[in-house]
Amino acid sequence: MIIDGKQIASSIRAGIRQDVLRLSAQGRRVPSLKVILLGENLASMSYVRGKIRAAEEVGINSELVHLPDTCTEADLLGMISKFNSDIDVDGILVQLPLPSHINENRLLKAISPQKDVDGFHPENVARLWLGEPCVQPCTPRGIIAMLDACGIEIAGKEAVVVGRSNIVGKPVAKLLLDRQATVTIAHSHTANLAAVTARADILVSAVGVPRLITARHVKKGAVVIDVGITRVDGHLTGDVDFDEVREVASAITPVPGGVGPLTITMLMQNTLDCYRMKM
Ligand code: GUN
Repeated sequence: MIIDGKQIASSIRAGIRQDVLRLSAQGRRVPSLKVILLGENLASMSYVRGKIRAAEEVGINSELVHLPDTCTEADLLGMISKFNSDIDVDGILVQLPLPSHINENRLLKAISPQKDVDGFHPENVARLWLGEPCVQPCTPRGIIAMLDACGIEIAGKEAVVVGRSNIVGKPVAKLLLDRQATVTIAHSHTANLAAVTARADILVSAVGVPRLITARHVKKGAVVIDVGITRVDGHLTGDVDFDEVREVASAITPVPGGVGPLTITMLMQNTLDCYRMKM
């Protein structure tokens, strides 16, 4: 089975849209999202466009604040502070990566944890690892939603996550653990990667190394989730050698059209959730 991320995302978005329409019909304010982008990074501009388009699709009120990369950290902190205290703003997202003159950690900490729709604030990260209610980061949440939508059992399964980033690897490992998987995290220093990944019933790769995962890395019948997106000769390429691995896997996500649409959909879900927390 090729997992159709676009279709799963579209069906979840239809549900979010219904919820937002119901709010309007009740005469309530609709959820609102601020997306802050610095500079002209082409990949970031493309991601941000996708986020704004998704917000339009579900009826969430969004604003793109596009600033020059000469903008200072103080300017940016001032803008975040203004959005934090605006009761009509539910979600604030600063597109990463940031120019080097801006301290990313300081910036992410400045966003109110209640409006942190990326789930990157240390308070949300701590809550995630403590098992307390929190905003979950979008890609990990999207991966779990995708497995659920496909009826893939997680409890009791061997899950191997390749990659240990704060945005994907570490949090998706925690979410899989919460769903009772036996979880291993592999990374660039893992000895004999193929021996580790071949144990996986559910294999998630999130490293950004094109075609790192080949047929010999995958157990027959495994579910393979490819989070990698790298531009190679103008084409988006995943971490997984799709043509080879699809012959071995029972289910596999394509790139593009796999995890990406779920990530953006979970951003909409997080915005709606943050809105509801205030109601
Ligand atoms: N850059 C790459 N992935 C992400 C993400 O999930 N959120 C934000 N804000 N920036 C990113």
